[in-house]
Amino acid sequence: MLSAEDNETITRTGPGTAMGKLMRQFWTPAIRSARLVADAAPERVRLLGQDFVAFRASNGQAGFFDERCPHRGVSLSLARNENGELKCIYHGWKFHVSGKVAEVPTEPAATREAFAQRVRLRHYPVREAGGILWVWLGDGVPAEFPRLNWLDLPPEQLRVRLGVIPCNWLQGLEGQLDSAHVGVLHQDQINPQKRSDNIGKVAFDSAPRFDFEVMPYGFREAALRSLPDGSQYARVREFVMPYYSYIPRGARNERQHLTIAVPVDDTTSAQWDVYYNLEAPLTLEDLGVDFDVNPDDCAVGLGSIDNRFGQNREAMSSGSSFSGFSSIRFEDFAVNSAQGPIADRTIENLSSSDLPIVRTRRMLLQAARSAARGELAMPDASTVDWSAIRAVDEVMPAGGEWRALPR
Ligand SMILES: [Fe+2]
Repeated sequence: MLSAEDNETITRTGPGTAMGKLMRQFWTPAIRSARLVADAAPERVRLLGQDFVAFRASNGQAGFFDERCPHRGVSLSLARNENGELKCIYHGWKFHVSGKVAEVPTEPAATREAFAQRVRLRHYPVREAGGILWVWLGDGVPAEFPRLNWLDLPPEQLRVRLGVIPCNWLQGLEGQLDSAHVGVLHQDQINPQKRSDNIGKVAFDSAPRFDFEVMPYGFREAALRSLPDGSQYARVREFVMPYYSYIPRGARNERQHLTIAVPVDDTTSAQWDVYYNLEAPLTLEDLGVDFDVNPDDCAVGLGSIDNRFGQNREAMSSGSSFSGFSSIRFEDFAVNSAQGPIADRTIENLSSSDLPIVRTRRMLLQAARSAARGELAMPDASTVDWSAIRAVDEVMPAGGEWRALPR
């Protein structure tokens, strides 16, 4: 459990909060690049409790501004997008994709330019990689961009999607860090008869043991399960600060799955799934049966606790479904959201299987406190070997050294 105070600290990410300061020390995944079309409507984006617009200018460059026009606060999502500029439809103020205030036609010609120079539009540095537009929401010079190993893959080897769910970001992350739930909540989906990978082996041991290796970017965690033949099944995850979780799915370079739990605001989060294969095009099996959904919100239709998130009780009674949900991600989204808008961690009774969650909370709280003191909580990204980060799962001799598994 956490104290009420620590639960506030770890969950709140708005401007000025400790966790908000920590998150703003990282590049933030904002929106799928494909959603931004040159000269098309600007998209509203809410991140860390702040409202923005993202758009693509005529030359293909992306812009990321505060949502409100600095004149009288009209949403720039209504603006015209033309000639490399957003033009507010209220009074025609124009903003270049670079963030420069280009024209203020409500001012007399003689003072127009001087006036435009005094007006500040808050705009943010962006990068595009891995099919995602990333934004720098921090102060000062942006941190080095992390060269994650999937960012430069061709489209046939990479798919990204996100689901927007009605709860705090940390519930999504904690769900991903929780190996013990896989054999219970997802028991229908991991049925070995349906899949060629190892994940069905989690069913042999519902109380995995955990071991950790601290890394400069977070930690590696092994969930170790005993198998009936005396061997052990190791599922090795990577946690990358502040919200990345690499999920073990078998082969070393193939069928990789990464989740990213980004705060939209304190009671809404964007749960990203990144599926990739470092060596070959992704197959339908790599992507899973539930991939054919809206990539910009695969949680559409999730509902709320009032309709039990659409849970199918009939399927549960008839024995055709354990959870009453039809896909792994809907199962996750439902239980994450059913912890409430912001989970009350003062009422918990944590068990042994929650060790990775305890560890992550401790790491995040410590980093948030450093960030609140104005310190850099993580090392410079240029000092990390991002290409080595990958999840692994393997059957190995009991007591074998999981750290020796090839990454
Ligand atoms: Fe799950």
